[in-house]
Amino acid sequence: MNDSLHQLRCFGCGARIASAEARPDFRCALCGDLFEVEYPGWGQAKGHDRPNPGALKWLWRERRCSSETLDHSGVWRFRELLPILESFGNAVTLREGNTPLYPLTRAAKSLGIDQLFAKHQGMNPTGSFKDTGMTAALSVARERGFGWVACASTGNTSASMAAYAARAGLRSLVLIPEGKIAWGKLSQAMDYGALTLQLKTDFDGCLGILTEIVQQAPVYLLNSVNPYRLEGQKTPAFEIAEAFDWNVPDHLIVPGGNLGNSSALGKGFREMKELGLVARMPRISVIQAAGANPLVQSLATHHGARLEPVVAHTRATAIRIGNPASWRKAARAIQDTGGWCLDVTEAEIAVAKAELGAEGLGCEPASAVTLAGLKKLRRQGAVNAGESVVLVLTGHTLKDADYTIDFHRGTLLQTEEKTGLESQIEALRRNAQVLEAKPEAVLAALKDSAG
Ligand code: F0G
Repeated sequence: MNDSLHQLRCFGCGARIASAEARPDFRCALCGDLFEVEYPGWGQAKGHDRPNPGALKWLWRERRCSSETLDHSGVWRFRELLPILESFGNAVTLREGNTPLYPLTRAAKSLGIDQLFAKHQGMNPTGSFKDTGMTAALSVARERGFGWVACASTGNTSASMAAYAARAGLRSLVLIPEGKIAWGKLSQAMDYGALTLQLKTDFDGCLGILTEIVQQAPVYLLNSVNPYRLEGQKTPAFEIAEAFDWNVPDHLIVPGGNLGNSSALGKGFREMKELGLVARMPRISVIQAAGANPLVQSLATHHGARLEPVVAHTRATAIRIGNPASWRKAARAIQDTGGWCLDVTEAEIAVAKAELGAEGLGCEPASAVTLAGLKKLRRQGAVNAGESVVLVLTGHTLKDADYTIDFHRGTLLQTEEKTGLESQIEALRRNAQVLEAKPEAVLAALKDSAG
């Protein structure tokens, strides 16, 4: 590892250690908190390790036309800001990143906002934002000579890890809560050859067990407690800034589960500001499902100083997490930037997801909390018409086709959950009718629908 360029700093007590000293569970030996990757050379006013903003912007743009494999990655294209490998030749890449930033014209119009965009991280190789972090942390695992990697997951981390491990020729161990992840994700872990174990517990239980396993077996932990995951996951912040010609949007809205992603994006924007690549940070808001909202409660009740775990329930299974590991880091991203943390109901999530689908994008339910959250913020007067807002869509719509089909069939939500949203739900539903195989039947349906 390139210890001369990076070290690990404990987020809780500030202790600094060399990367090789990290414990297998990535918890601080002194206080038990998580680490962040830190690059001491960047702090020096004119140190030769401190990146030059103008040169970097030029170089990163040039790489978009390069024929080098590493330059095709939207993570490693920014490798000057993640010097975590001894040799970039060890990077395991599937051409992750470089995801689209779509204008959301219809949602913008109905919300009365001038500039609304979706950064669609579901357009990554395994269909979720996890790929940007996985390419970074799994490359570290390979460079360090691990034969096995492992994660606990609500589905997307496991799909991503299994794919990258397979590419690198490593074995992977997946622990998932039995019956509580979407089939698309489970099928990916199996397809990519992971040892997939469904445990009779929830995500938090799986992560607890894995934390014990990695201390007893030579298995490299790839959950987002691993600080190298966040190094990869900070790169969409660079892409967003680049897309805005290095003027950041006013507001970034991110779903919150284990809270690694919001932490990573916060780190990405903070580093860009510290290095002079951008002049300010966007407001970062985190949205949780109402049944899985420990950070919302922590900020409302304890100003983010303490978090009480909850027993999580939501159909957005990706964020069904009651005891998020990176809550302190996410709280800092929100508080540093003046963002909000709020929760949305099951019906609000379902409506927002259908609206994103109707704009031709689609996403998984956990991603749709962003639009549902923006609607709530707009209703509360927290977002102005003139603000530019980016929603981070974290997963592809095909990850959880059952949810989508249940919504359109009208079997997803209980009657009492729909209160107040009945007409919106009915207007969005598109049932797949069964007809006689006759042109007149199809023409009648067409006429019905046009009328
Ligand atoms: N959206 C999707 C689609 C996710 O899969 C996750 C997390 C999140 C949002 C929340 O991100 O945890 O960084 O706050 N999925 C994890 C997994 C936990 O195991 O796939 P977070």
